[in-house]
Amino acid sequence: MAYETIIVEVEDHVAVIRLNRPDALNALNTQLLSELADALREADVNEKVRCIILTGSSKAFAAGADIKEMSEKSFVDVFLADLFGNEATAAARVRKPVIAAVAGYALGGGCELAMMCDFIIAADNAKFGQPEINLGVVAGIGGTQRLTRAVGKSKSMDMHLTGRFMDAEEAERAGLVSRVVPAKSLMDEAQAAAGKIAEKSRLTAMAVKEAVNRSFETTLSEGTLFERRLFHAMFATDDQKEGMGAFLEKRAAQFRDE
Ligand code: CAA
Repeated sequence: MAYETIIVEVEDHVAVIRLNRPDALNALNTQLLSELADALREADVNEKVRCIILTGSSKAFAAGADIKEMSEKSFVDVFLADLFGNEATAAARVRKPVIAAVAGYALGGGCELAMMCDFIIAADNAKFGQPEINLGVVAGIGGTQRLTRAVGKSKSMDMHLTGRFMDAEEAERAGLVSRVVPAKSLMDEAQAAAGKIAEKSRLTAMAVKEAVNRSFETTLSEGTLFERRLFHAMFATDDQKEGMGAFLEKRAAQFRDE
């Protein structure tokens, strides 16, 4: 499909989706969110794709929802359209692993989009923030919920109430990002991580996602039961036989997603 605000490339089982509105620091307007939702859905069902990388430019992952586009809207407009209710959250519904490779600004909706991915690899120039309070609004694509779960109440409140930015080092310390890498090697590191994931069984990787994500939605006893049942279910797959057999035979596993 031809996109205007994103660039999609699929190579070696990895789909790279690059946000591409350079003049607006990749601000998330309606067109971009719609194209991104389509591209994520396509990658999710594309048999060749085993992992997805979502990224932006070296200056901005995304500087937030498009302020120009929404500034004149009324309550009735945004309520009836359920602004940011569906397409903006498509990344959270992808079943395959999604890595956010973040350089530069990830602010407001940009930070929220990165947090919908499964983990964030940050360039050392990355800056995260939920500065919506400066615009007279609260976060609208999950920031108050996901940032709080990621970094705890105190830091989340600090970020949302002061609107300050967090650099990559602080984001790693706080647990918002899984690792920080030099800006120039961001895509190499993200590709290497995606390559590792692509070698695994797609079935198992999807089950891992479901189990970890369940921890945000349920109690510890329900979550561990869900995990255990998934673990049990894996014994019905050929990939479990292959993975354990390969270990015992001291060879690399060849998973077939069966
Ligand atoms: N929406 C629309 N346009 C934006 C934008 C945004 N969120 N962020 C940046 N831009 C545009 C600027 O208007 C500017 O365009 P023009 O050249 O046409 O004037 C261009 O991108 C470059 O931006 P700056 O000149 O401001 O660049 P800078 O380097 O001086 O500053 C910045 C960078 C600190 C990120 C600054 O652009 C900024 O503060 N942006 C807004 C950040 C923000 O408030 N994000 C939250 C948005 S609301 C939201 O996301 C709600 C939600 O939860 C759903």
